[in-house]
Amino acid sequence: MLGNFSYSNPTRLYFGDDSLFNLNAELAKYGKNVMLCYGGGSIKTNGIYEQVTAILEANGKTVFEDAGVMPNPTVGKLYEGCKIAKENKVDLILAVGGGSVCDYAKAVSVSAYCEDDPWEKYYLRMEDVDNRIIPVGCVLTMVGTGSEMNGGAVITNHEQKLKIGHVFGDAVFPKFAVLNPTFTYTLPKYQMVAGIYDIFNHITEQYFSGVDDNTSDYIAEGLMKSLIHASRIAVQNPTDYEARSNIMWTATWALNTLIAKGKSTDWMVHMIGQSVGAYTDATHGMTLSAVSMAYYRTICPYGLHKFVRFATNVWDVDTNGKTGQQIAAEGLSRMEAWMRELGLVMNIKDLGVTEDMLAGIAKGAFIMDAGYKTLSKDEIVDILKKSM
Ligand code: NZQ
Ligand code: ZN
Repeated sequence: MLGNFSYSNPTRLYFGDDSLFNLNAELAKYGKNVMLCYGGGSIKTNGIYEQVTAILEANGKTVFEDAGVMPNPTVGKLYEGCKIAKENKVDLILAVGGGSVCDYAKAVSVSAYCEDDPWEKYYLRMEDVDNRIIPVGCVLTMVGTGSEMNGGAVITNHEQKLKIGHVFGDAVFPKFAVLNPTFTYTLPKYQMVAGIYDIFNHITEQYFSGVDDNTSDYIAEGLMKSLIHASRIAVQNPTDYEARSNIMWTATWALNTLIAKGKSTDWMVHMIGQSVGAYTDATHGMTLSAVSMAYYRTICPYGLHKFVRFATNVWDVDTNGKTGQQIAAEGLSRMEAWMRELGLVMNIKDLGVTEDMLAGIAKGAFIMDAGYKTLSKDEIVDILKKSM
């Protein structure tokens, strides 16, 4: 049964290989001062920077650049961005990059006029925004997080060894997002497959929870099947437009709040993965792949019916003459084989985790209680050990 909910998504998307020109119409809606956020320089080497700045210039914008947004943006960088945004009275924050740049832009948008310390207010105390929010627009260059159409903004505090996501409401969603699949062609394979697994895990986090069938489960299965299919093509041929565009669209749907509606969701892989990220600064998708198999094998007996359904509907496991446990185990083995085929990192040792970090990582992992099993800290340590 579906629970009660309200649903809206305020982000306007422009999708396609010529979608960037829509930036002209969007820029016309905002004032003169634009803060242009981007990462470590990939947009300069692949030509996206020139295309975007030409449009900004043609629209008479005064541009304040905020470069060097790192993967897993830090609280220190956030404070820097707030200063740039406030001092220059920016009317729009334009994020050109992946989830890190989009998340960072959203974090700056709610923090620039925050009178409190934004890390403490939004990330430690999880309070709502009660100050002016600067509008954000995105030009996406890396696919995975869904940040282009959601209110999530993950920030890392290395001193406190915490990586925390705040899921803000509609007012913080990007006002618009340009999704051009060709902009992702230059992604290194490591980032592409990490993004693909991030998408897959967003879907499973929302799928492996709740006892009843509902529409979300069917949508989730369709998204997973499309992603598995397209991922195999993209790994062979990274410039296959059809595959890259389907991956991009799947990523958006995987985490634009739709498939979570009316049901409970898990998110424990992300909680453990984020804590691994706080200790290692590793690529987000790889922190998820490295802990997933141990996690799902641990919770499988507690949600067996769903793992059987997953094996059957997503991985086409033949159920003839097999027990539920056997079917579920075969489904998970096929998932693992696909992950290895993509070249994902399958253990946390390869991300730099050492034995002495395990207790701290478990401590930093927030425990969610809507999955098939609410884990104790000891069980998280056990999953981490199995992920070594
Ligand atoms: O910094 P540059 O030089 O641009 O390089 C980036 C970066 O090194 C590179 N890249 C991006 N587009 C490229 C490219 N390289 C070549 N060609 C291109 N077209 O890719 C690297 C990774 O980028 P990043 O933005 O860090 O990746 P991703 O999109 O995976 O974002 C990860 C961040 O998003 C958070 C993660 O925790 C992490 O901090 N998440 C946000 C979520 C949300 N908003 O809902 C949910 C997710 O679960 C996730 O937690
Ligand atoms: Zn994720």
